[in-house]
Amino acid sequence: MKSSTLALMIAAAMLSAGCANPTRSRDLANPNVTATTLAQQVCSNCHGLTGNAISPNFPNLAGQVEAYFVAQLNGFKSHGRQDPAGFEYMWGLSRSLTDDQIKGLAAYFAAQKPARQPGEGTASQVAAGKAIFENGMSAKKVPPCSSCHGAEGQGNGPFPRIAGQHADYLVKQLVVFQRTDERPEGGIMKTVAHELSAQDIENVAAYAQSMAN
Ligand code: HEC
Ligand code: HEC
Repeated sequence: MKSSTLALMIAAAMLSAGCANPTRSRDLANPNVTATTLAQQVCSNCHGLTGNAISPNFPNLAGQVEAYFVAQLNGFKSHGRQDPAGFEYMWGLSRSLTDDQIKGLAAYFAAQKPARQPGEGTASQVAAGKAIFENGMSAKKVPPCSSCHGAEGQGNGPFPRIAGQHADYLVKQLVVFQRTDERPEGGIMKTVAHELSAQDIENVAAYAQSMAN
């Protein structure tokens, strides 16, 4: 037998063993695959193995609060959350997840440690963002972000962690809240973001990305 044929047979045998063994399966429609396996073999491709995504196209999930995480996955699954990147990427992925898998995925990512992010924006942008985060903008009736997202931006219950999140993603979502109804639980943030200028949004996102965890 030629060695290349042997190599192919071994590869085929390994592949079929992988499919038959739920602990190694990437099958999103199999309720027996554990949340940890899905997190490490599927979600990790975009969100990173520890929930720290390398590309700013993908939000960090490390340290995200569980209640918020569960609500978002159910939002994608039910098609309630319909911002373009959400339906493009997350609708199909969440389609067949069970409640138990969703809970397990939330617990897996909540337990991961958020990585310190590189600085974003100039020092004066970050300072302006810090002021918005901590004090709001009374002239524009913008409340302090910290009043819901926490003094450290760590989130709580329905309020997501925004500390250490990619600024690009934060900007994208603030614009979604401000201009659309594509997020079903976005009513509060629509009011919060209403008077923020594009510059305010850049500033507060730069500050949130830079926050230590
Ligand atoms: C092919 C890339 C890709 C994969 C794989 C992927 N995601 Fe996502 N995910 C995204 C993108 C892109 C977004 C941002 C969507 C948006 O902007 O609305 C997202 C958003 C999310 C959010 C919302 C985050 C927030 O802060 O609101 C959660 C939760 C999430 N994904 C969980 C998962 C889980 C769990 C898995 C594995 C079952 C997974 N994702 C697999 C691309 C991916
Ligand atoms: C009154 C409470 C409240 C205040 C104040 C508030 N937020 Fe939020 N924020 C929320 C809630 C609730 C959500 C989740 C919305 C959802 O589930 O769609 C949210 C979501 C977000 C998200 C989306 C995060 C993600 O992972 O997709 C961003 C970004 C955000 N807020 C930024 C801010 C900024 C910046 C400020 C200050 C200018 C602020 N918020 C002030 C309640 C608040």
